[in-house]
Amino acid sequence: MFERLRGTRDFLPHEMAARKKVFSSIKKTVEEFGFFETDTPAIELFDLYSIKSGEEIIEELYAFQDKGGRMICLRPELTPSVVRLLVSRAKELSFPVKWYSIPRLWRYERPQSGRLREFYQLNIDIFGSEDPKADTEVISCAIKLLCDLGFDKSDIEVRISDRRLLQEFLLTLGITNFHEVLRAIDKREKISSDDFRLMLYNANLDDCQIKKIEEFLDSKGNFLTTLEALSKQYMGESISIVINSLLKIAQNLTDRGYEGFITFDPSIVRGLDYYTGMVFEVHDRKREFRALFGGGRYDNLAELFGGEHIPAVGFGMGDAVLELMMRRKNIWPEEKLELDIFIATIGNVDTEVSRLSTVLRNNGFTVDFDIMNRNLSNQIKFASKLGAKFLLIVGERDLKEGIVTIRDLDSGKESKILLNEVISSPSKYLTKVL
Ligand code: HAM
Repeated sequence: MFERLRGTRDFLPHEMAARKKVFSSIKKTVEEFGFFETDTPAIELFDLYSIKSGEEIIEELYAFQDKGGRMICLRPELTPSVVRLLVSRAKELSFPVKWYSIPRLWRYERPQSGRLREFYQLNIDIFGSEDPKADTEVISCAIKLLCDLGFDKSDIEVRISDRRLLQEFLLTLGITNFHEVLRAIDKREKISSDDFRLMLYNANLDDCQIKKIEEFLDSKGNFLTTLEALSKQYMGESISIVINSLLKIAQNLTDRGYEGFITFDPSIVRGLDYYTGMVFEVHDRKREFRALFGGGRYDNLAELFGGEHIPAVGFGMGDAVLELMMRRKNIWPEEKLELDIFIATIGNVDTEVSRLSTVLRNNGFTVDFDIMNRNLSNQIKFASKLGAKFLLIVGERDLKEGIVTIRDLDSGKESKILLNEVISSPSKYLTKVL
C-alpha cells in the first residue's frame, strides 16, 4: 500500500461535498463583487518567482529541470502567474480588471496545523486602479465572504498598514537597509523577542533604534487616533499622502459597516517582496491559527515583468486555515453525501429503470440505481448511505399495473404513482406527490 506525501490531503466524496459548499459560497460572494474567474498553469518557469517573490518562497519551491533543460516549478503562489497573464494580454483588456481564482499551490514547508505542502488559495486582485477605493473593495470582499460563511466581527480581525509608513519611520531613525529590517519585522510575531532583537542587531541596528521600532510596532489600534498620533510623533509632511489614503480606506470601510473588523497595525509588513503600499492580514481574534488572508498593494510587478505600469491590489486566502477556523466555530458544513433519487428495483425491470433514470437525469435530478443485484432492503440501506432524499421502487409486479412507489427517506412517507406520469412530467409530479 502506498502512503500519500506529507503535507498533502485526500478528500473522500462526503468531505468533498462539504468543501464544495464552502467554495461555492466563496465564489458567489466574490462574483457578487464583480470579480471574474481566471485560471493559469500549475507549472511555471522558475524565473517568474526569482524576480520578486522573496527568499522564503524560493527556498520552498518544488522545482525541477524538464526534458528541455528548463528550470520549472510548481506554482507556490498565484500572483506572479496572474501578473504574467495580465502583462501578456493587457492590450485586449479593459481596466480596471477584477480577477479571481482558487488555484492549488505547492510549498515545501514543514507541515503543521494550517501549513501544508499542497493547499488551495483564493486569490482576488484588482489591476489598473491606484485609488484607495480599489483597496477598500478588496478588503470589503474579504470581510463579506467571511460573513457569508458565518463569521462575524467577534471572530476575525483585519489588520491594516502601509509599508511606506514603516519605511518612512525607519528613515527618521537613519535606517536604510529596509529589506533586512522588514524581514525581521515580518517574523516578529512568530519568534521570541530575543530572537527578534538578534535579527535587528544582525542588521546593524543599535539598542536605541530597536527600542523605538518596538514602540512604533506596538502602537496599534483605532485608525484615526493611532494614525494621527503616529503622524505627529514621527512623520514629516511627505507621508501625509500615505496617511490620507489609509484614512480613506478606513472611512470607506466604516461607510460599509465594517469598522468593527478593522484595526490599524503598523507591524504588518508581509513577507513577500513585491508589496509597495497598503498591506493587510486577517487573523482569528484568539490568535489560535496562522494568518487566514494576506494581501496588499503591489504596483510595480507588471513593469518588472516587462509590461506597462499597472497598479495592483489583492489578497490570498488559504483553505487549510479557513477550514480550521470554520470547524472551531462549528460552521464547517456537515460532511455528507446528497442524492435526489435512488431507484430500487425488484425483479427484471431494466428497461423501465433505463427510461426512468434517463428522464429524471434530463430533468436535472441526481439519480442512481442498483447495479449490484442487491435485495430491496440492502438497496434501501445503500440509498440512505448515498444521502438519497427519495427512493423510487420499481418492481416487476407493480409494473404490470404501470405503478411505481415513491418513498421520502426522511419522513418515511410513501405514495404509489403511475410510471407514465413520472416519465411525462417528472419535476411537477414528484414535487406534487412529495
Ligand atoms: P501569502 O501570505 O503567502 O500571500 O499566503 C496567503 C495565505 O495563504 C496565508 O495567509 C495562508 O492562509 C495561506 N497559505 C500560505 N502558505 C500556506 C501553506 N503552506 N499551507 C496552507 N496555507 C497556506 C500570497 O500568497 C500572496 N500571493 C497573496 C496575494 C494575492 N497578494 C496579492 N494578491
